[in-house]
Amino acid sequence: MEVYSEKQQITAALDALKAKKLTVGLVPTMGALHEGHLELVKKAFENNDRVVVSIFVNPTQFDNKEDLKKYPRTLDSDLELLKTVSKDAILIYAPSVADVYGDNTVSESFDFDGLEFEMEGRFRDGHFNGVGTIVKRLFEIIKPDNAYFGEKDFQQLQIIKKMVEKHHIPVTIVGCDIHREASGLAMSSRNTRLNPEYKDAAPFIYKTLTTAKNKFGTKSANKVQEWVENQFANHDLLKLEYFIIADTETLKPVKRKSNNKTYRAFIAAYADDIRLIDNIALN
Ligand code: PAJ
Repeated sequence: MEVYSEKQQITAALDALKAKKLTVGLVPTMGALHEGHLELVKKAFENNDRVVVSIFVNPTQFDNKEDLKKYPRTLDSDLELLKTVSKDAILIYAPSVADVYGDNTVSESFDFDGLEFEMEGRFRDGHFNGVGTIVKRLFEIIKPDNAYFGEKDFQQLQIIKKMVEKHHIPVTIVGCDIHREASGLAMSSRNTRLNPEYKDAAPFIYKTLTTAKNKFGTKSANKVQEWVENQFANHDLLKLEYFIIADTETLKPVKRKSNNKTYRAFIAAYADDIRLIDNIALN
């Protein structure tokens, strides 16, 4: 398994592969890999000869310095996990901040047609400009045929699709299902920071989403919202930041249900100081 820390090196390696007409899939990650990430890598192998996994904790997408500092960095075990998927067809791009940003670690500013102002955008200042900046750079460096993103971060997935469309970037974006632990808790690099008490409590998030989905069959979005907010108000350990039922395309909160639209429910909640997000398709 080749690990590249400099863009010139990986670009040269990829040029050689592309000269042989091999196709390349990209799975961008921030490392601390888990089964959910590996599912993306496996999915990428369905349609590509080689898969690049980027491992980079991107400073520009963190609005909270403490969160950036505490983000787990586990390159050695990440590589071991990736080897269980393929020993010779994965290329790793694990650059330094300087390799990506030079001496100017700032975001570009993007217009995602309003997708960036909803949900995460309201609570994480500048987050999606940071995500757009790094993902656009990765596309420029790797020039993948296909790139893979999880529905776990559904708003991010929609924003990347929008960026690719608006900037005419020649890559196909593939969305991948949310991978969950047996308890229903969506896998996340942050779960390793949950102490046992909070780890036991956290599956409540997905449980609430599935019940909300059932209720949405017969009740208005407002009624479901009220019910969810009550569930969390009565919970000792988890603190709800938001629950929203949104139109899948615009991510705007639904006012009145329409038969020809699809909806998703989204939650962000705190378990202690750890922020967890999850979502579910409603129809
Ligand atoms: P990270 O949180 O490491 O996630 C990398 C990719 O894995 C994202 O596309 C995310 O949606 C997906 N993923 C994480 N947990 C998942 C799960 N349980 N099921 C399915 N997919 C899951 O998202 C980022 O990094 C960054 O914002 C990045 C896109 C790399 C830009 O820095």
